[in-house]
Amino acid sequence: PLQPGEEPSYGGFYTQDDISEIVDYAKARHIEVVPEIDMPGHAQAAVASYPEIGCVDALPHVATGGVFKNNTLNPGKDVTYAFAEQVLNEVMDLFPFDYVHIGGDECNKSQWKKDPDAQRKMQEEGLATEEELQSYFIRQLEEIINARGKTMIGWDEILEGGLAPNATVMSWRGEAGGLTAIRAGHEVIMTPSKYCYLDLKQGHDDLEPNLGYSRVLLSTAYNYQVIPDSLSKKQASLIKGIQANMWTESISDWSKFTYMNFPRLYAVAENAWSAPSRKDWDGFIDRLTHQQQRLDTLGVRYAVSAFSPWVHHERQGDSIRVRLEAEVNGLAIHYTLDGSEPSSATKLYQEPFALQAGDQLRTQAFRKGKAVGYPVAFDLPVHLAANQKVANQQKKNLAKLTDLQYARLTTADTNWQALPYEATLQLDFEEPTTVSSLRFSALRFTISGIYPPQAFEVFASTTASDGQLVSLGKVEQADKGKLQGRNKVACQLSFPPTELSRLQVKLQTFPVIPKGHHLAGRPGRIFVDELVVE
Ligand code: ACM
Repeated sequence: PLQPGEEPSYGGFYTQDDISEIVDYAKARHIEVVPEIDMPGHAQAAVASYPEIGCVDALPHVATGGVFKNNTLNPGKDVTYAFAEQVLNEVMDLFPFDYVHIGGDECNKSQWKKDPDAQRKMQEEGLATEEELQSYFIRQLEEIINARGKTMIGWDEILEGGLAPNATVMSWRGEAGGLTAIRAGHEVIMTPSKYCYLDLKQGHDDLEPNLGYSRVLLSTAYNYQVIPDSLSKKQASLIKGIQANMWTESISDWSKFTYMNFPRLYAVAENAWSAPSRKDWDGFIDRLTHQQQRLDTLGVRYAVSAFSPWVHHERQGDSIRVRLEAEVNGLAIHYTLDGSEPSSATKLYQEPFALQAGDQLRTQAFRKGKAVGYPVAFDLPVHLAANQKVANQQKKNLAKLTDLQYARLTTADTNWQALPYEATLQLDFEEPTTVSSLRFSALRFTISGIYPPQAFEVFASTTASDGQLVSLGKVEQADKGKLQGRNKVACQLSFPPTELSRLQVKLQTFPVIPKGHHLAGRPGRIFVDELVVE
């Protein structure tokens, strides 16, 4: 949390002159800018600045870490409605267009249940639930907007407590909200997150910048069928169009912003403006090549994820079966297994193949003879402990640690083995084996309280020690453990070649998540991928 007197490192504002400049610039290009003033949720900046419009116990600063609790306007206070009216009128003066978006999404109503003003308002107005209280609030906003002859847009949550009479609904949590609104005769803008969110990853988790939860591929955005077959022509006419959302809370600079927008924005635009029968994925890719040249000339960073080989891999006995593909059709995918750089002269991928011990996969796609997409070099070692038995101190079998199934950089990948903040892993070899290193990836995903080990120590029952456990070495990485964010942390211990029958790994991370974290006070966790023994 922001400390008293600390300079904020995040945020900002537009002046009225800035807004006029943006509106005029867009207008000259036949574009109307629709403002969204998110109410009653997502309003912590307003609450921090004007505490009188917040709920009981609201914080006087802007929350960090993407946490939204007690960040709503107070729908029980007259001063809130006066504030909203002033703000909306100022906004409507600045944006001389027909639509005003009031948000309405992700409003955490837990504080409304405790807030005396919110509860009194519910009694006075005969509102049975907090959702109805939200709808009451939104209806007041709609009156302010309609009084100026304009139309209110709100996210699909505004359906929950009863829809305001003239509202246009923006459907983001899927298409269902939009379809319900259409059946009630309302206009709709479709922006389902699965197809239209440009803040999500657009490729393999290990190749993309460290941005975005979940995934929207270029082809997913392109292939979104906007008008479902279930709608009549008349109903379909209520869909005004689609919107792409580029939320910038995790975008720290301009090049990340353009990277996430391009080329997916072209896909959304072509989808929005083309008759379904004219859509043509391969044709789109041909046209995209010209757009890429324009972006190159302008020095704009963009993604080439759709042109990159996607490495699918799974255990097949004592080896790993690899299948390569790309979203874009007709690419020639070349690869090498000896660590050298792939070229159009190295092996052409034709069918799935098996990785053996020592193989180092590198792959690159080519189009019309030119390298396209990202070069891919995934570390997928077939190693000495493959399929050997691993257990924790409770003797529970942890097969994920030696199953040759490697995890992607996401908590959603079930190949990570979740461990408590302190764990002892015991790996038993079927027969004595000579070993000189142990390595593994640990996930750092601090928003979920997942930390790499601050330290780990490796022990072994060796032939020389007559089966007694002896320490092979300890790795301390307390410095790295304090970093924020998410990535794979490479953990490795090398030692002189040792014949052994058992390895034991002791790991530890934060027993208590530090103050200031939204999970403060809870124990940290460790996520470990394959225990690679070589
Ligand atoms: C939204 O993405 N919360 C509308």
